[in-house]
Amino acid sequence: MAIRFYKDQDKNDVKRFKCAWRRWEKEAQSIIRDAPSVQVTDDIEILVAKSGDGEIVGVAVFRVFPDHSCEIYSLGVLIKYRNQHVGTRLKKAVMVEAESRFTGCRITSTVHRRNDRMNKINANLQAVVEPIPGDAEYLLTLVEARLIK
Ligand SMILES: CC(C)(COP(=O)(O)OP(=O)(O)OC[C@H]1O[C@@H](n2cnc3c(N)ncnc32)[C@H](O)[C@@H]1OP(=O)(O)O)[C@@H](O)C(=O)NCCC(=O)NCCS
Repeated sequence: MAIRFYKDQDKNDVKRFKCAWRRWEKEAQSIIRDAPSVQVTDDIEILVAKSGDGEIVGVAVFRVFPDHSCEIYSLGVLIKYRNQHVGTRLKKAVMVEAESRFTGCRITSTVHRRNDRMNKINANLQAVVEPIPGDAEYLLTLVEARLIK
């Protein structure tokens, strides 16, 4: 599997990308599908993970800010490729990219409490997890790129 930045030739695959099954996964899928259209206006970046036969199997949508922070807006993996560490590798790729821009860059994301896979990835990356005031469903997670193993 190879991870690289999105190119125009990926547009159709990303716009049709299917990673959602449960209710709380649908927003992640929508953000990925919209990303090619809003990439320039929203100043976001897109990484894609490609299988050996060239299929896009994972996508991460993120933005690095001048204040040395990075927000991951969405990270998704094709349902048939789940539990093969594609998601972990994509998140680590975002962390490496963010750290390469700003040493000590802090990477945030929001995750549904019941999103067991994403919460496990974050736990494995020693994420600090906090409730979001007034939001009973989502958690705020923070990982530090320097902690990457
Ligand atoms: C969340 C998502 C990106 C994870 O991708 P993935 O490639 O399957 O993740 P990985 O294989 O890297 O890691 C999953 C981890 O969860 C664990 N896991 C799998 N099923 C689990 C479950 N039911 N409960 C707890 N942990 C579970 C795996 O064992 C693995 O942990 P490990 O590395 O310690 O073995 C993917 O499921 C997805 O696309 N979900 C829909 C979109 C979404 O919700 N994105 C996150 C919010 S933006």
